[in-house]
Amino acid sequence: MNVLGIETSCDDTSAAVFDGRQLKANIISTQLVHRNFGGVVPELASRSHIQLILPVIRQALIQSNCEKSDIQGIAVTRGPGLAGSLLVGISIAKGLAQSLQIPFVGINHLEGHIWANRLADPDLAPPFLVLIASGGHTQLVLTEKWGSYQILGRTVDDAAGEAFDKVGKMLELGYPGGPLIEKLAGEGDTKYIRFPRARLKNAGEYDFSFSGLKTAVLTHIQAIGREARDTHLPDIAACFQDAVISVLVDKTIKAAKDNRVSRICLAGGVAVNKALQQAMLRAAMKKQLQVSWPSPALCTDNAGMIAQAGHFYLEQNKTSDYNLSPMPSLNL
Ligand code: KG4
Ligand code: ZN
Repeated sequence: MNVLGIETSCDDTSAAVFDGRQLKANIISTQLVHRNFGGVVPELASRSHIQLILPVIRQALIQSNCEKSDIQGIAVTRGPGLAGSLLVGISIAKGLAQSLQIPFVGINHLEGHIWANRLADPDLAPPFLVLIASGGHTQLVLTEKWGSYQILGRTVDDAAGEAFDKVGKMLELGYPGGPLIEKLAGEGDTKYIRFPRARLKNAGEYDFSFSGLKTAVLTHIQAIGREARDTHLPDIAACFQDAVISVLVDKTIKAAKDNRVSRICLAGGVAVNKALQQAMLRAAMKKQLQVSWPSPALCTDNAGMIAQAGHFYLEQNKTSDYNLSPMPSLNL
């Protein structure tokens, strides 16, 4: 079955074709308009989705050598995300499904990030633990079987990617902060300063918190002044990144051991970070755990992961009806 995936939850307009075995196309158009604003502007995002979605779908069909009539089902992100942006994808999915007389299914964006690991490794089978670390979410999810997820922990304030973006803004690096901080951190000294690793009193043992770290970076750069800040930019980036990674790695490894799963998967935009990948790999090897992560294009938002998840549900005749509406705060 050829499934057309559509993803418009935030600032990437994406369409993909997945045939059950192979990702035949995965077109991603990242909206550059937000860079001038230091973050995603919801109204501009939905307007850009409207302009981009049809050309992006057309490109996915061309690249996968498919006519519209070769598509047998549609999978679309229904949440979480920006309401107006989700609405664009959902409306297009309904229109296409209606005109082609084929089924469609709404997919949870976070579940999509988990499925990206299956695209990377077709033999991947539960149980496994997933660390989802993106701009909007940071969660530890125990996947007992496909379609059945237990959230072991989540952030109580900022998401890991959000912390990267906010610190990137503080250091005047630009948006999104994650890739820029990673690059700068490569030239920095992780021993320059020790930023705090949050110890949470009133939260679960696998919960995360990054807002205190963000404040610690701000306090530090205010204390040393602009000149010293500029001299030590790579060191500050390295120490901030180190603090985020050490918390993500420690909690993920502990959750895997406590829940007796031997496989860890990484997902979401922050999973692109090579320092995180390597730190997780080193820690996992010490405990005889396996770790894997998708390629960068499958870690960040993309419709391939939505098409793969949709294929799973459509094959079981699990479909959505035309009442489907955006769910901006949808949980797993
Ligand atoms: O999964 P994603 O594309 O979108 C959401 O669902 O949020 O993740 C985007 C987030 C941004 O916060 C971005 O700064 C972060 O992923 N990110 C990174 C890296 N590349 C992207 N964070 C750290 N290191 C990176 N190399
Ligand atoms: Zn995402």
